[in-house]
Amino acid sequence: MGTATKTRLDIVPLTKHIGAEIRGLDLREKPDDETVRAIYQAWLDHLVIVFPGQKLSQEDLIRATHYFGDLGTLDRPAKYHPPGFSRMLPGIMLISNIRENGEPIGALPDGEMMFHHDMIHKPVPSKGTMLYSVEIPSEGGNTLFASGYAAYETLDPAIRAPLEGTRALHHYNYGSQQRGQGGVEAFNECVHPTFRTHEETGRKAVYVNRLMTVKVMDMEPAESDRLLNALFDHAEKPEFVYEHVWRLGDVLLWDNRCSSHARTDFPSSERRLMMRTTVAGTTRPI
Ligand code: OGA
Ligand code: MN
Repeated sequence: MGTATKTRLDIVPLTKHIGAEIRGLDLREKPDDETVRAIYQAWLDHLVIVFPGQKLSQEDLIRATHYFGDLGTLDRPAKYHPPGFSRMLPGIMLISNIRENGEPIGALPDGEMMFHHDMIHKPVPSKGTMLYSVEIPSEGGNTLFASGYAAYETLDPAIRAPLEGTRALHHYNYGSQQRGQGGVEAFNECVHPTFRTHEETGRKAVYVNRLMTVKVMDMEPAESDRLLNALFDHAEKPEFVYEHVWRLGDVLLWDNRCSSHARTDFPSSERRLMMRTTVAGTTRPI
């Protein structure tokens, strides 16, 4: 109030429960502290933020990631760099189906992915993930985001009550981007609360997913399967989901504490290239 210089953010919600686009921001320019706080609040409110029309260097992407916390480090730093890039900065990962000498230059190369929370198989999962589109196919490869809050708040008490206070086991193998626990050796495993309380908003969210959750601990396997399948079916309902159709230059930031995401199939004959950073988690899920 009173000053004429204050940046007003243009925040446009994309669905009832999840997603907002922030227009008119060029992430190459550092916003003032008040604007950064407003963007952060919009992220907490909307779970997924879209910054359209960006043209970023790797340094720009890393700077923007820092508005939301510490830059996450990678288990597996990028081995390759795409055509036109002489190197990849530490902290930037490529998501791509492009192949050089038969090897994908990035992670999660091909096709459809089931709903998941990034790094849920780790003790302190990433707080957020930022994805920037550099090359996109002509169709498909959309990313779907589901609000874990909306799923929790509308969950049938007959499903919610027996799961309240339980913990679930998560398992991930980077080779299996499409199927859950299908007999593959775990890259990593971890147990977390089935319903997670977001440490900043205080809201509870569904914190299990079809790709990585193996079972509810201390529960009969048949009962665990029944409840989890009912929970996944509920949490993935279109009314809780925003489907992002990528445009070149979109930067997306999602909150892994209260949302899950999935990817639709896309033609293997077309190139898809994203640059990805993560915001490091600060606590074990509670
Ligand atoms: C990820 C991811 C989805 C996509 O980077 O964690 O799930 O659309 N990506 O590539
Ligand atoms: Mn992911």
